[in-house]
Amino acid sequence: MTTHAIFRHAIGTPMQDLLRATREDGAGVVPPPDSSLLPQPLLAFDGVSMQYATEQHVVRATHKVSLSVHEAERYVLLGPSGCGKSTLLKAAAGFIAPTEGEIRLDGQRIIGPGPDRIVVFQEFDQLPPWKTVLGNVMFPLRATNRLGRHEAEERAYAVLDQVGLADFANAYPHQLSGGMKQRVAIARALAMQPRVLLMDEPFAALDALTRRRMQEELLELWEQVRFTLLFVTHSIEEALLVGSRIGVLTPRPGRLRAEINAHAFGFDSQGGADFQASAQRIHHLLFGEAQT
Ligand SMILES: Nc1ncnc2c1ncn2[C@@H]1O[C@H](COP(=O)(O)OP(=O)(O)O)[C@@H](O)[C@H]1O
Ligand SMILES: [Mg+2]
Repeated sequence: MTTHAIFRHAIGTPMQDLLRATREDGAGVVPPPDSSLLPQPLLAFDGVSMQYATEQHVVRATHKVSLSVHEAERYVLLGPSGCGKSTLLKAAAGFIAPTEGEIRLDGQRIIGPGPDRIVVFQEFDQLPPWKTVLGNVMFPLRATNRLGRHEAEERAYAVLDQVGLADFANAYPHQLSGGMKQRVAIARALAMQPRVLLMDEPFAALDALTRRRMQEELLELWEQVRFTLLFVTHSIEEALLVGSRIGVLTPRPGRLRAEINAHAFGFDSQGGADFQASAQRIHHLLFGEAQT
């Protein structure tokens, strides 16, 4: 199909509708969306198998995982502990390489780390406490020699404005709430103008209420900025709240079991019947129907 033809097809079918389709492996379930109708994904996992060789044996972490993340999606990798979620995220970051298959960003094979993919780490207290908010956001720009002092400051101010923290440019991290620190950490990443943000169970260690607030903050920020997010969790509820799409992985070696659309779910839908039904369905995919 020519580019022109793809474009023509895509006009009548907004991407979100195409992505709304759900796919599952196995018989008698919803077929995948016609990928020829979709624009090129931002991030593509193509038959990605990952393994670790230890002295005694080889650990197969994932098996032939194929999935696509599109611009401004919040794609969640969900699966039981040890199924290879972190491994896939590290591979996307370019820290480790697949033993089979490849990962592409904008069509280019990923062969190492780069400023176009930034991992936002879970300890938001990672922000150096002796630097102001502005100093924190400028730091990677300066440390990587990407911009001169003046340009870095301008960029940092612009991003702080974008995330609603302009008034806090001269504050220090200890003066901020947890949610605001998360904003600074994300602003610092966004200042590098990455194509995708990577987050690995960022809220796992938090108490339930704080976790909820951080999830809300993250979604609010996404509404403002519309970054592309690849997010790892083993919580079904968190996946449904945070994700626009969820890739459900099997136990190790992780394979893609299903993709679930979670577009419609936000904090107000949490108690609702649709939310519960999706949570149930994912629960079944993860734990039920064992090898029947
Ligand atoms: N550096 C490593 N060396 C050997 N095995 C590893 C290493 N890192 C992870 N593993 C193994 O690979 C599997 C997948 O790990 P991981 O990606 O961390 O899972 P998850 O993030 O889904 O909990 C696990 O069985 C884990 O023990
Ligand atoms: Mg992990």
